[in-house]
Amino acid sequence: MNQATALAHPNIALVKYWGKRASENNIPATPSLSITLDTLVTRTSVRESEQDQIEINGSVVSDTKIEDFLVRLRAAYSLPPLAIESSSNFPTSAGLASSASGFAGLLTAIDTAFGLDMNASERSIWARRGSGSAARSIFGGFASLEEENGHWCARGVLPREAWPLKVVIAITSETAKSVGSTAGMERSEKTSPYYGAWTESTRLDHAAGLSAVSRQDFSRLGSIAESSCLKMHALMLSSQPPLFYWNGATVETIAAVRELQGGGVRVFFTVDAGPQVKAICQENAASVVAERLASVPGVLRTLVCGLGPGAYVDQPG
Ligand code: DP6
Repeated sequence: MNQATALAHPNIALVKYWGKRASENNIPATPSLSITLDTLVTRTSVRESEQDQIEINGSVVSDTKIEDFLVRLRAAYSLPPLAIESSSNFPTSAGLASSASGFAGLLTAIDTAFGLDMNASERSIWARRGSGSAARSIFGGFASLEEENGHWCARGVLPREAWPLKVVIAITSETAKSVGSTAGMERSEKTSPYYGAWTESTRLDHAAGLSAVSRQDFSRLGSIAESSCLKMHALMLSSQPPLFYWNGATVETIAAVRELQGGGVRVFFTVDAGPQVKAICQENAASVVAERLASVPGVLRTLVCGLGPGAYVDQPG
C-alpha cells in the first residue's frame, strides 16, 4: 500500500518551547509540556507520485520547511516522490499550532504508506525534526517533550480521560503571523538579554509542571502555565527587533480570564506565537468561560475543545 491518510490534532504548550540548542535536527533548548486538543484537526494524505507536490488547504504551495524535512527523511529512508495533501479545519499560521498537527500527521501518514515501521517515540523524534512542537502531537492528552538517553522525544504523561480539561480558544485575528516560530526563536536567542534566564527557568517550570499534572493540581498548573507564557512573551518583546504577537483583544481577553479567576472560576490562560488566547478550564466551567470570552470586544469567535488523541491513521471503511 503506497498511500495513507493520517489525522493529527494541534497541541497547546503549558510550559513553552522557545529556542533551540541546535538548529540541525531541530533540538529544543529546553523541555516543554503540552495538552493535545480534540475538535481542531489536520488531515494529511500522502501517495506515491511522479514528483513532489505539496497542497495545503486546496492550494499547491512551495513550503521550504516540508521540503527540507523530506530531504532529511530521504537521507534515512528510501522514499519515492510524494503527493502530499493537507487540510486543517482551523486558521493556519496564526498561533494555533498548525505546524504541530501538520508534521505529526505527515510523518504518521508516510510511516504507514511506506511501511517504515516506526514506534511512537521514533515518530515523535522525526516529527520534531519537522517542527519541535509536532513531537508532542504524536501523543494524546498531556505530553512532555524532553531529552532521554540523548534523544529529544515526546512521551504521554497523562491520558486525556484521566483529567478531562476543556480549552476555550478566543480567536482575535485570522491573519497569518508576521514572524514564524523558527525565525522568531533565532532572533530571541541572538538578541534578547533575557534568553539565559528564560532557558534556566523553563527547566524548573517543566519539572514543576510535570509534578502538578501528576497530582492533577489545577491551581499550581495554572500558575506555572501563565508564568511560562508571560515569560516567553517578555523574551519575545525584549528581542531586537521586538516580536509582538498580541493585539488589543489579546490583552482584553487575558483581563477577562483574570476577572473570571477573581470570581472563583477555575480557569487559566496561555498565548502562543499569535494573538489568540487559550483559556484552559475545568469541564464544568467551559460554558461560563466561553460566554464571557465571546463578549470581549475584538474577539471574533470562540472554539471549545476537549483533550484529544495522538496522531493516528485514518482506516478507510
Ligand atoms: C510558541 O514548534 O512551531 O507554540 O520547531 O521552529 O517549528 P519550530 O517551532 P514550533 O514552535 C512552537 C512555539 C510555541 C510554543 C510551544 O508550542 O511550545
